[in-house]
Amino acid sequence: MAATNIEVWQLGTVVEVRSVATDIKRVVIEPSQPKKAEPGSHVDVMVNIDGHEDKRSYSIVESSEDGARLVISVLKAPLSRGGSRFIHTLQPGDQLEITQPLQNFPLRVGARRYTLLAGGIGITAMINMARVLRNLKADYTFVYAGRTRTAMAYLEELHELHGANLVVHIDDEGTSLDVNELVAGTTEDTELYMCGPIRLMDAVRRTWTERELSYPNLRFETFGNSGWYDPEEFIVKIPSLGLQVPVGAGHSMLEALEDAGADMMFDCRKGECGLCEVRILQLEGDIDHRDVFYSARQKSATEKMACCVSRAVTSKTGLAAEASATGQAIVTIAVS
Ligand code: FES
Repeated sequence: MAATNIEVWQLGTVVEVRSVATDIKRVVIEPSQPKKAEPGSHVDVMVNIDGHEDKRSYSIVESSEDGARLVISVLKAPLSRGGSRFIHTLQPGDQLEITQPLQNFPLRVGARRYTLLAGGIGITAMINMARVLRNLKADYTFVYAGRTRTAMAYLEELHELHGANLVVHIDDEGTSLDVNELVAGTTEDTELYMCGPIRLMDAVRRTWTERELSYPNLRFETFGNSGWYDPEEFIVKIPSLGLQVPVGAGHSMLEALEDAGADMMFDCRKGECGLCEVRILQLEGDIDHRDVFYSARQKSATEKMACCVSRAVTSKTGLAAEASATGQAIVTIAVS
């Protein structure tokens, strides 16, 4: 049966853990209620951060035909909010709460051509898709970009499996990805699926739009956790509720407002649906827009933000920090 978006929670048992690149661990889990994982699907995992439970989403890198074994691979992010640190503590025999496979990045079978683009740890969302396209003998190019070879998980296995279909770009080997070139080489009947850092995905979306390619042919997965700037603590104020709340570097604005008792709207919590939109009334500092919901024009207007992922920062340019007297960015908002 196909994966759905209905969250069915179950226990999963960790049966294998190993390193697959610098700071990236591969974790094999046996779910108590197995269900086949379609390409593009993910599981939500309950992680324990300093005694608090929280939910994180991880792509299913690999799954057995019956779903009895699922593989996730997780990068221990230096600025982790705690989820990846928790995953990196797992050992065989540990049990954790996971959902059955969930799907919001489906592969449309039947396109004339495919380009799969993975940046860094975004590879985890693309591996299963690429395997399916290979098995279907589809016309596909699998582009994998990373900073260094040692930081790129599964590189050798992917070379072996995909041969000439795999195109690798590695920054410190002087072969960085040229987004213009990539999109210029994309035909109108190509579907492009991507997952990677926000800078990469923004560049592809911008170039895609400039070249007037079909927008439905551009599909992406984000886990809403990478930004343009390092997260820093900032203040959010909601005058209508009399709230002034600090947002720690390890928390989202949405979480901080929920903790403060604000009744917030949200759905995806990863910058895709726009449901958590707040209006910006005043800003001391800048906004690090981390969503993929707003257009570049909407982002530069600084009138609204997706508070589940986007943050206030003291300066985007480093040239003129227009932060408040306290040295922290302050954003004053209205919620709908
Ligand atoms: S909840 Fe979907 S963009 Fe914030």
